[in-house]
Amino acid sequence: MKQRLLIIFAVLIYNSVSAEDGYRLWLRYNTIDNPSLLQQYRQQITSINCQADEAKLLAAKQELQTGLSGLLGKKVPVQTAVINGTVLLGLPAHSPVIRKLVGDTALARLGDEGFIIHTVKYEGKNVTLITANKEAGILYGAFHFLRLLQTQQSIQQLSITSVPKIKLRLLNHWDNLNRTVERGYAGCSIWDWQRLPGYIDQRYIDYARANASIGINGAVLTNVNANAILLTEEWLQKVAALANVFRPYHIKVYLTARFSAPVEIGKLKTADPLNEEVRKWWKDKTDEIYKYIPDFGGFLVKANSEGQPGPQNYNRTHADGANMLADAMAPHDGIVMWRAFVYSSETPEDRFKQAYNDFKPLDGQFRKNVLVQVKNGPIDFQPREPFHPLFGAMPQTPLMMEYQLTQEYLGFATHLVYLAPLFKEVLDADTHAKNNSTVAQIVDGATDGHTLSGMAGVSNIGSDINWTGHPFGQANWYTLGRLAWDNTLTSAQIVSEWLRQTFTNKQAFVDTVQQLMLASREIQVNYMTPLGLHHIMGYGHHYGPAPWYNKAPRADWNPVYFHKADSIGIGFDRTARGSNALAQYQPAVRQQFENLATCPEAFLLWFHHVPWDYKMHSGKTLWETLCDKYYSGVDSVRWMQRSWDGMKNYIDAGRFNEVKQLLAIQEQEAVWWRNACLLYFQTFSNKPIPAKYEQPDHTLAYYEGLEFPYAPH
Ligand code: GCU
Repeated sequence: MKQRLLIIFAVLIYNSVSAEDGYRLWLRYNTIDNPSLLQQYRQQITSINCQADEAKLLAAKQELQTGLSGLLGKKVPVQTAVINGTVLLGLPAHSPVIRKLVGDTALARLGDEGFIIHTVKYEGKNVTLITANKEAGILYGAFHFLRLLQTQQSIQQLSITSVPKIKLRLLNHWDNLNRTVERGYAGCSIWDWQRLPGYIDQRYIDYARANASIGINGAVLTNVNANAILLTEEWLQKVAALANVFRPYHIKVYLTARFSAPVEIGKLKTADPLNEEVRKWWKDKTDEIYKYIPDFGGFLVKANSEGQPGPQNYNRTHADGANMLADAMAPHDGIVMWRAFVYSSETPEDRFKQAYNDFKPLDGQFRKNVLVQVKNGPIDFQPREPFHPLFGAMPQTPLMMEYQLTQEYLGFATHLVYLAPLFKEVLDADTHAKNNSTVAQIVDGATDGHTLSGMAGVSNIGSDINWTGHPFGQANWYTLGRLAWDNTLTSAQIVSEWLRQTFTNKQAFVDTVQQLMLASREIQVNYMTPLGLHHIMGYGHHYGPAPWYNKAPRADWNPVYFHKADSIGIGFDRTARGSNALAQYQPAVRQQFENLATCPEAFLLWFHHVPWDYKMHSGKTLWETLCDKYYSGVDSVRWMQRSWDGMKNYIDAGRFNEVKQLLAIQEQEAVWWRNACLLYFQTFSNKPIPAKYEQPDHTLAYYEGLEFPYAPH
């Protein structure tokens, strides 16, 4: 009894010291609040043994000591003896004990980053062994072990082998050198360039820890709309300082390369990728970068897209541009991630088709160290898009997946939208390019046997105390890492892990909020862009609905271009009668989408111009269904609010209130989306919003008149 009281006391002390402002993300390490489990863990973990002093192992050891001490509510010592309850950390090369405990065969399939966590007996003592081929694996193993405790799993008989499915697991920051963040809604850039390289903010270390804990092994520090100045000596020193912080956490830095840099900072007359002087300039520049950052990862390039310079300015292809940089990188084992997000202002072609048209013919022409980075869908990170037709269409080229974590089109950092279902929907889609060719298998290299593979998320991180603005934005960052490591994890598994670590293990909380999160993306689709509508948001800032907008300087920046509503119906005909974008998919995919009867309703208006009176599967008309979807979206946000209100007693008041307020704004904005869109589309359908529904309390003119000159861009 006395011991139990002491434990409860320890839990209270440890857990009361840190306020819940969200800064600690999913690495809170509060003392286990289940007394009997705590007692078990304390018996099973008595000490840490780690003999080597390599930087990654030191990071792993330190994290384990901090984490375990927090979780167990008492200091867990580091010691050289192996005793009952030792967590033994190291490579076989570091210790004869480890060599003896783990056979060569077990290690053979771990690669450079995989790990093993085994419960073993050593001279009659119970030991938890964390080992790997390389130090990075041990770092990942240590974080995995901490995750088991944080999610209150049994650690009695562990026999875990884990190897990442994807090689490059990256965050892409769209951060500018003046600390603004393009499409950033969580404060300024966390890179304090002005005070770098001299001042190392604790945030950099915590950022690296958080990433390492979910397997992220690279960060592109800067905006794809790139600034050449970044490649000058002064800035490379700043970048090197960040690389030094990240190295012990197995995170490489990557930079965005502005294609015209040889002209802008190199004083050359051209940036033509086949020009010898230009090629030499990039080679020298790359050599210089590696002097500052010996393990530099490589370049991410946006070229000939939305006004960015590129090889097409010189009548060269994307492959010519990418290969020039790849040749400069190759001696250093660096890579080039060349983005396929391109569409030309001159071509009147359906924007859906343009990336495929540009890139598909180049398959087989890229160097071995080039990946083509493709957004999940063909337009631009909409609440729902079909998978990008390039997946499965370039078998000779590793295609890297680009997702967007920052919610540019998904309610900024105000709406609670959990993205795993969106990510998984794309990964699970079958491209039908071959047997075993889901998007996941294309991206992880399994289909075409690529060893280079990658997945990136456009970061939602900023200087806000909780990193992502919305406390639930953290879940999307977390998910990117976990899915890039293991694309077979389900959304539900990831959510449960995240909730338990970030909030609490209390089952009632986890069950309720898990349900809410898993539903949240479909709810948003319903109140923003149901049935396959897309790109109907405000111009420029992308805030709020503006399906009426038609004043943008180019057709395919206008919502009217995408929904094509008229007196007959609504939707973009991408069948052979229309733009024929569907021809870019394999026949099985094309046929499914092309046939009105088999096209899933979720994608209907992506591919068809459908009459207002068209009978849906339910027997209701398209117009009625559109109304139902918008209304159910709003109703469901209200359900989310009620569910959240019931969680008050399970978590801290700070985060509870923050989310409550944000959900209230989300509800108002969902009503705004619903009313504005239905009132506008009604001018074409000429049909009433069913009387059973609450009617819009403003006119269409009111919604059309709203302006937001200071909404974040
Ligand atoms: C979107 C976004 C831009 C961004 C671009 C890109 O269009 O609005 O801000 O630069 O995507 O991915 O390059």
